[in-house]
Amino acid sequence: MLHKKVKPVILSLILFLFSLLTVGCPPAQEPAPQEPAPQPQEAQEIDITELVTQWVESGHSSITLYAAERDGCVACHDGGAFAQQLTEVAQLERDFHVATDCRACHTGRGNELLQAGTVSIPTQENVEAGTGAQCLACHNERRAPDINDERRAAPHPSSQAGVFTGTGGIRAANFDYQEESPHNQIDNSCVSCHMTPVDAGWASHTFAVDNTEAACGDCHRGITDVNLAAGADYDGDGDAKGFQDEVAGLLSLLEEAISKEINGGSFEAGGGVIKFTNGAGNEIQVPNEVYQAAYNHTLVAQDGSLGLHNPIFVVQLLQQSYRELTGKDVPDADIQ
Ligand code: HEC
Ligand code: HEC
Ligand code: HEC
Ligand code: HEC
Ligand code: HEC
Repeated sequence: MLHKKVKPVILSLILFLFSLLTVGCPPAQEPAPQEPAPQPQEAQEIDITELVTQWVESGHSSITLYAAERDGCVACHDGGAFAQQLTEVAQLERDFHVATDCRACHTGRGNELLQAGTVSIPTQENVEAGTGAQCLACHNERRAPDINDERRAAPHPSSQAGVFTGTGGIRAANFDYQEESPHNQIDNSCVSCHMTPVDAGWASHTFAVDNTEAACGDCHRGITDVNLAAGADYDGDGDAKGFQDEVAGLLSLLEEAISKEINGGSFEAGGGVIKFTNGAGNEIQVPNEVYQAAYNHTLVAQDGSLGLHNPIFVVQLLQQSYRELTGKDVPDADIQ
């Protein structure tokens, strides 16, 4: 691990944040005088201790220090900065580091996005994403790709938005990608799969897909494992395995093809760029189609869902990258 991460589990800080959250809520509206008094609603018990514990154990309580101490980076790596739309460290009135805390999503900009349901990302304007709009505001590649970019920029580690919407990646010319998927048409997008209600009925704050039945079961009846059997043999190894295994297979094939193209060299994303080295470990310049393949490989690998965010688009992106690089289709594969 390159960057030091800390988990500041300080109860007083969490309670302080929660008090900010409740203070930030608008007062309940008085009913109009002539209307009958509203019936008391069925109380939905939210176990706030359990909810806060889930957050503490989630990735959102971690801080990547390097990013939390840099201008620009704090806009997503500090919950308070995100909520107030601040980009400079000096603007932050704090002497401690704050992660993606309650304020990030329930006050300021986070709350506005939660209500608006629409957000712009580097690769698309006005994405309709319901309550998940706030997730896309941080979980995106940070910039749109350009095959001629001489810096050989990398997608930011949070490449989910470009994959999910099918607008990310460096495309092959003359190929019609299937951007729309049943998965990116789900109401509330990210939230529908990553915050499925716990038994008591309130939204889970682990941010993990921890209830496959609730997240996928309406459409894939009886599903028990997210690595659902693939509809075809996308990587051409003669076996239609789990879908995530097919995508892992395509990622390996593409990595091997890139290495072959640069005579046994390799590539690595870091510090905002993709660095290519030859077999002897020296940095080298590469042709556009090698950069294209490495960019798309990085995009899909960093997304973390192994293609589930947009199954057919991801298969197409990897298969077409292979074709652009080698001049032929993935051998024996079902080409999408
Ligand atoms: C648009 C929002 C955004 C901005 C701006 C941003 N990041 Fe990130 N970054 C993220 C998100 C979201 C993740 C988590 C990705 C994941 O885990 O899937 C992340 C992850 C990372 C990681 C990987 C951390 C890990 O745990 O593996 C590093 C390193 C990082 N960012 C550094 C930076 C630096 C340095 C800057 C400024 C130059 C920056 N980020 C600016 C959103 C952003
Ligand atoms: C204010 C920016 C921000 C928002 C809004 C945000 N995230 Fe994150 N998220 C991050 C950062 C930063 C990390 C990585 C933390 C670290 O390692 O430093 C992260 C990590 C995660 C992880 C863990 C990833 C891993 O590799 O373990 C998941 C899952 C996640 N976010 C999902 C979501 C979902 C779902 C939403 C919307 C409900 C959301 N995020 C909203 C910034 C954000
Ligand atoms: C159709 C359901 C679904 C939707 C919608 C969805 N995800 Fe996911 N996501 C998954 C699954 C399934 C995984 C992989 C989990 C696994 O393999 O255990 C995943 C993985 C991830 C990861 C990596 C987690 C890790 O531990 O490394 C992040 C981060 C993430 N999603 C964020 C998002 C964001 C942000 C959105 C909205 C743009 C989103 N997801 C939309 C189902 C979904
Ligand atoms: C990454 C974004 C994010 C973070 C961080 C976050 N929440 Fe939430 N929270 C949500 C979303 C999205 C919902 C669902 C909102 C909806 O459906 O209207 C939600 C719902 C809730 C609810 C209502 C639950 C229900 O189902 O009625 C409470 C209470 C809550 N959050 C408290 C907190 C507290 C306390 C923290 C900090 C420990 C926190 N949240 C951190 C995104 C977040
Ligand atoms: C709103 C309904 C819906 C939800 C919810 C949903 N899916 Fe899907 N999913 C579909 C449809 C329809 C297809 C086939 C469409 C296509 O191939 O483009 C599909 C395709 C897939 C595929 C690709 C299979 C292949 O090889 O073509 C996988 C894997 C998958 N879903 C897994 C999941 C998982 C895991 C979840 C929950 C985290 C989930 N889905 C949630 C409707 C849904």
